[in-house]
Amino acid sequence: MAVDEQMAISAFLYPTGYHVAAWRHPDVPADAGIDARHYIEITRIAERGKFDFIFLPDSAGIRGRDMEALSRTAVRYVAQLEPFTLMGALAVSTSRIGLTATVSSSYNEPYHVARKIASVDHMTGGRAGWNLVTSQNPEEAFNFDAQPDHDTRYARAAEFAEVVRGLWDSWEDGAFVRDKEAGLFFRPEGVVPLDYRSERFKVRGPLNMPRSPQGHPVTLQAGSSEAGKELGASSGEVIFTAQPTLQEAQAFYKDLRSRLARYGRAQDEVRVLPGVFLFVGRTRQEARDKFEQLQELIDPVVGLGLLSSELGHVDLSGFPLDGPLPPLPPSNAGQGRHKLLVDLAAREQLTLRQLSQLVDGSRGHWQPMGSASDVADELQEWYENDAADGFMIMAPALPAGLSDFVDLVVPELQRRGLFRTDYRGRTLRDHLGLARPAGRVPQ
Ligand SMILES: Cc1cc2nc3c(=O)[nH]c(=O)nc-3n(C[C@H](O)[C@H](O)[C@H](O)COP(=O)(O)O)c2cc1C
Repeated sequence: MAVDEQMAISAFLYPTGYHVAAWRHPDVPADAGIDARHYIEITRIAERGKFDFIFLPDSAGIRGRDMEALSRTAVRYVAQLEPFTLMGALAVSTSRIGLTATVSSSYNEPYHVARKIASVDHMTGGRAGWNLVTSQNPEEAFNFDAQPDHDTRYARAAEFAEVVRGLWDSWEDGAFVRDKEAGLFFRPEGVVPLDYRSERFKVRGPLNMPRSPQGHPVTLQAGSSEAGKELGASSGEVIFTAQPTLQEAQAFYKDLRSRLARYGRAQDEVRVLPGVFLFVGRTRQEARDKFEQLQELIDPVVGLGLLSSELGHVDLSGFPLDGPLPPLPPSNAGQGRHKLLVDLAAREQLTLRQLSQLVDGSRGHWQPMGSASDVADELQEWYENDAADGFMIMAPALPAGLSDFVDLVVPELQRRGLFRTDYRGRTLRDHLGLARPAGRVPQ
């Protein structure tokens, strides 16, 4: 049984939707990625549905090399607003929902990141979170320096998280007394020195702002390799993952949770949220029609290009489309997704064409389809059988895919007592049932 008494639900926000061809759908604004009003609309739909948070994915570079394939899709970070800039707009347009943004530990400095996330936490009264990624996309590296290898990226990420948390604890809660009468703005003894020094980072501190409402804004994490799961177990509070079947999700859930004790962490400090790429309709046929409509919009050129980049930029052009997936070299990119797709192709004996069609839609995520009660049955099954503490909803096309979920599935989950009918607190930690970390005490 999951650790909280009700599910956590969040919305994954690729502006046009998660489906690779969503931007071509007649109801989807093709310029959604650069229209702040569109992101605000979607976040408000999620807030109307009482979601825990919205999740902004990110990449500091276009994802992919094949310009012909890229030129026909909107989901490879070719036209998307930068998450922190966007968070400012979302912060003042909403009042209850959590806001979380993806941050690369490979191409940022901890001080910048700690400061930006704490700012959003102050601006929203405690609704901020960050998704700590190591950046699997080799194309990002070209905008900075060479891509560090997989283990080095993860070693930096673990230290990065430690420094960020240290900076968030730069001040005692209540150090800023702002006593006009006495003329005292803050108590100097309320500073908690950091003085972090290692090969990688030299950060004196303190952070130049008071401790934020949540103490620590919530840390999300999504790596599935060995190193990725260790980082999740040491630092992640919400673990986001791609698991195509109940059995694989159960194995991941158990594996991740079995690693917590090693870091002195309790089971209730972590929530595991698999991604759900779902199609819901008022009838099963309507859900299937929505799926078919999007699949028909996929340009064949996009198919192979996308599969190739999901597999770590292997060149698949010389292989027959109706033959099996050829043996592939190990990847320095995302190892979790690479293994998932190779295993899927072998297990289901998929041809290259079949694998690419499957990847174009869900990219390895679980894909329920049907009426509201069909979808609710499947979510309930995962939730009640140690596979998930909640879900990351990856609506195929936006905004309609998300409002369908909110209008059809959320009431069904509420009727079954599986999801809240209203927010129970003010902060993202309140929504998720995560405790507020005590700060450090000045020595
Ligand atoms: C569901 C999911 C969503 C992710 N979103 C992002 C993202 O927005 N940006 C990014 O750079 N990496 C993202 N990642 C990548 C991971 O956080 C991680 O850095 C990557 O999977 C490589 O780790 P691995 O080799 O441990 O799997 C995501 C991963 C998963 C499973």
